[in-house]
Amino acid sequence: MSKSFLTLGIESSCDETSVAVVKDGKEVLSNVIASQVDWHRKFGGVVPEIASRKHVELINPVIDEALKEARVSYDDLSLVAVTFGPGLVGGLLVGISAAKAISYAHSIPLIGVNHIEGHIYANFISSPDIKPPLVCLTVSGGHTDLLYFESLGQYQILGRTLDDAAGEAFDKVARVMDIGYPGGPAIDKLAKEGDPKAIDLPRSFINEDNYDFSFSGLKTAVLNYINNQKQKGQEIDKADLAASFQQAVVDVLKAKVIKAVQNKGVKQVLLSGGVASNSQLRRELKEALEELNIKLYYPEPKLCTDNAAMIASAGYFRWQENKEVNPYSLNAYPALRLR
Ligand code: KG4
Ligand code: ZN
Repeated sequence: MSKSFLTLGIESSCDETSVAVVKDGKEVLSNVIASQVDWHRKFGGVVPEIASRKHVELINPVIDEALKEARVSYDDLSLVAVTFGPGLVGGLLVGISAAKAISYAHSIPLIGVNHIEGHIYANFISSPDIKPPLVCLTVSGGHTDLLYFESLGQYQILGRTLDDAAGEAFDKVARVMDIGYPGGPAIDKLAKEGDPKAIDLPRSFINEDNYDFSFSGLKTAVLNYINNQKQKGQEIDKADLAASFQQAVVDVLKAKVIKAVQNKGVKQVLLSGGVASNSQLRRELKEALEELNIKLYYPEPKLCTDNAAMIASAGYFRWQENKEVNPYSLNAYPALRLR
């Protein structure tokens, strides 16, 4: 029997210090996530300087815990995969330095992973039988990308946001509504009690003949609505506002995905990134695609938001493709994009 291939994944691009051990790219043996959310909450967003310092404190204990939980040692590892962008430079450098040290000290190949590719590959952990061709929507705090996968590792960018990412819009709107941090889960919860038709909000580009997105107009419309209500001395129904905002985001995402599947003729769609855990987006997209006989996949909630198992999985599949590893000159690329 051939020895199983164990990848150590390291993720530190934002405010989660995470380390995972993944077997053969799909089976998670451990996925330790140390969230810094409590340190950033009072600032209403991630403070890069605090994030870097916390990553330095947390990285070694989290590596130890991930190996212990997976019941493996450094000698059992075949590959070290680390996020090298996009993200906050300070955090990325902490993860990259730790990965290089492990790779060098234990003679294990090193591979740099694009964080957005990581989000996409989270789907292959939750549903190992997925096979392209497919369309993939990645919606996170920093990205909104619509991709067409012809085969594994070969994708075409159909469209992306021209301004704010979908998750960023959730976070900013939740902040002006003062309903908690991070904004996505807070709006998701509050929207369940509101009327999605109560407030008329814009759905940018919904009928345009492209796959691009724009969410900054929607954010401004929410801000204007709040200011107008205040000037008129009228109460704001936060549940109605949350529901109306969320409906506007879901309508646009759904319309673009449906246009993409119809043009590309695919039978499978992947959802990935933190916003992929939004309950209304999952439900409405699933229903709309089912009517077209198309299957929707999304990762389990823990694999939607930032975690190292998805980085290990993406690194494994990249390595499988061409066995290309990175030299120790691997650097952090804060503005790295999908190519
Ligand atoms: O993928 P992720 O953990 O980090 C980035 O790579 O950006 O995504 C975080 C984003 C945040 O903007 C957060 O508000 C959003 O995902 N999010 C949600 C939900 N859960 C997390 N947005 C909408 N509904 C949710 N349930
Ligand atoms: Zn992410």
